[in-house]
Amino acid sequence: MSGPAEPAAARVRVAFIGCGGNARAHVQSMLQVPEAQVVALCDVSAEAMELAAQRLPGVVELPRFTDYREMFAAVDPDAVVISIPHTLHYEAAAYALEHGAHVQVEKPMACSTAEARGLIERRDRTGRVLLVGYQRHYEGSYRWLRDAVTSGRYGTVHFIEAWQAQDWKGRGWRGVPELSGGGQLNDSGSHLVDVVFWTSGLRPDQAFAFTHNRGRRVDVLSSIAFRAENGAIGNIAVIGEHPHGLAEGLQIWCRDARFTLDDSGVQVQLVGKAPEGVPPDQLVAYPSDKDANFIRAILGREPVQVTAEDGLLVAAFTEAVYESVRRGSPAAVSL
Ligand SMILES: NC(=O)c1ccc[n+]([C@@H]2O[C@H](COP(=O)([O-])OP(=O)(O)OC[C@H]3O[C@@H](n4cnc5c(N)ncnc54)[C@H](O)[C@@H]3O)[C@@H](O)[C@H]2O)c1
Repeated sequence: MSGPAEPAAARVRVAFIGCGGNARAHVQSMLQVPEAQVVALCDVSAEAMELAAQRLPGVVELPRFTDYREMFAAVDPDAVVISIPHTLHYEAAAYALEHGAHVQVEKPMACSTAEARGLIERRDRTGRVLLVGYQRHYEGSYRWLRDAVTSGRYGTVHFIEAWQAQDWKGRGWRGVPELSGGGQLNDSGSHLVDVVFWTSGLRPDQAFAFTHNRGRRVDVLSSIAFRAENGAIGNIAVIGEHPHGLAEGLQIWCRDARFTLDDSGVQVQLVGKAPEGVPPDQLVAYPSDKDANFIRAILGREPVQVTAEDGLLVAAFTEAVYESVRRGSPAAVSL
């Protein structure tokens, strides 16, 4: 652990719902947050909990539960990190909020607009913190882009081009629509949809899409055209068959500038000029990661950096994309 230990009373008691690959990284980063105390693990798989406990010193002795309802009855955590298959997010997050816990839920926050609104209503009624796991909100490049574009200094946005490519395996529950709620668009693609609208400040209005399953039960490739409420338009490409790794790119055209963010950094091209790189020292990350931000938001020390409204926007957009694919025509985004 880094830093001095906080007095016991100030520490937030956190439990993990889901102890798979993603959660194991979270437990590790949560153990570094001095204001947090990890108090329990929950997973329907005893093996997943054992793996989490073995890999992480300090976690071996924690109580383990295969049902989060039993965990709440026994441990009554102040907060939970939910990291389970997508269509199960809503029920677990709603249960935790109703039982007085603050919630960090992995992406996508929910698999429909109605579910997303249901979580926002519970957050507001209970006064708990609800944070969604989009870690790009903490990265300097995305934060710089958002500040520049939404400052208005370069005029309004009129076009966005965004793409993401990954050698997405789609294994296990990810390939089962009843658990994943969709394919790569609803998985890693969810991050891309989030940054398109979060960095630009646009609100989507219509989506028209083609998807391809490449022989699976869920989408692997998505080609999406959208229109925003201000009349701006754009394209989003999610490519789940890619030679290796994850690559991502985003271009935003405003009246007076074109912004480019990709693996080589961030560039700005002003009217009549050549593109110029933004120096790395200007790309300043948020001082907390999402786990530390979650805990500090609970303690009232930092604002939530990924809000449930961000989660609602992605859920509503994704719902419209799938509706458009089903009917073969544009679908309205119900925000
Ligand atoms: N933010 C990111 O970059 C990022 C990266 C990877 C995964 N994720 C997200 O994390 C979540 C989990 O993904 P993963 O890669 O860890 O998958 P995983 O399959 O490795 O882990 C999921 C775990 O959930 C458990 N589980 C299933 N139903 C449960 C229930 N009702 N109660 C408790 N546990 C249950 C499974 O047994 C499994 O151990 C997903 O929402 C995924 O999108 C986010």
